[in-house]
Amino acid sequence: MTRRLTTEAIRTRKNAEPIVMVTAYDFATAQVAERAGVDLILVGDSAAMVVLGYETTRLVSIEEMLMLTRAARRGAPDSLLIGDLPFGTYEDSDAHAVATARRFGEAGCDAVKMEGAGPTVDRARAVIASGMPVMGHVGLTPQHTGSPEGFRVHGRTADTALEVIAAARALDAAGCFAIVAEAMPAAVAAELTPRVRAPVIGIGAGPHVDGQVLVFHDLVGLYDAHVAKYVKRYGSVKSDMIEAVRQYASDVRERKFPAAEHEYGIEQRELAKLRMALGE
Ligand code: KIV
Repeated sequence: MTRRLTTEAIRTRKNAEPIVMVTAYDFATAQVAERAGVDLILVGDSAAMVVLGYETTRLVSIEEMLMLTRAARRGAPDSLLIGDLPFGTYEDSDAHAVATARRFGEAGCDAVKMEGAGPTVDRARAVIASGMPVMGHVGLTPQHTGSPEGFRVHGRTADTALEVIAAARALDAAGCFAIVAEAMPAAVAAELTPRVRAPVIGIGAGPHVDGQVLVFHDLVGLYDAHVAKYVKRYGSVKSDMIEAVRQYASDVRERKFPAAEHEYGIEQRELAKLRMALGE
């Protein structure tokens, strides 16, 4: 029996039990997320940096994102899966946004995410009208910022906070089923959250929201190139992995691996026949 939540079920989590979202980008990470029992899995375009090693999220292509999405779906068949529309694949027209969202649907997504407001509000409305639910994203939107050096907190003045709240309200009115609020003062997220009907999922937005999201590789300690202030590390798998590979290399060099328990056997009779055939 599937336990995949619907986007409608996510809507009912406004002012209720906090929503748990995490990113995942392939079979293994999606399987981990699903087995851990998160509510939503986002195939984020953060894959550009944490999986593919690009300097910015703008550089990931739609083909790369779709390949990761299909793998994530295979790893998490029972989870609500959201695909992050990559830079340059939806902003310019409703038709482009709808076509891109459809490709993510074919790759296994239940919903898509788009960054920013402005023209994105119309794109979101068009994609929702086409039948694909949309998650909005306000505050820090890395696709608009470019490199990590430009990543900064949004809404630190009354005017910019009003802009962030207006952006969230516009996406809410367009019908987004949830809205990510990234990198803003907790007090601003606390003002924003009750002003929209959609649940607000925060990342670097404090506790007064309807849920939280973290990047998988940040959470487990697999990515260390740029670690934001809001990241809490729940593991240190990169050092565990380095240690495991180091141990493997040392075992091979010292001829400790493979040991007898890692070998396949052959019957003596067959071995004797083989040797005979080889002329021994
Ligand atoms: O790409 C991503 O991982 C995201 C989350 C940080 C929300 O957009």
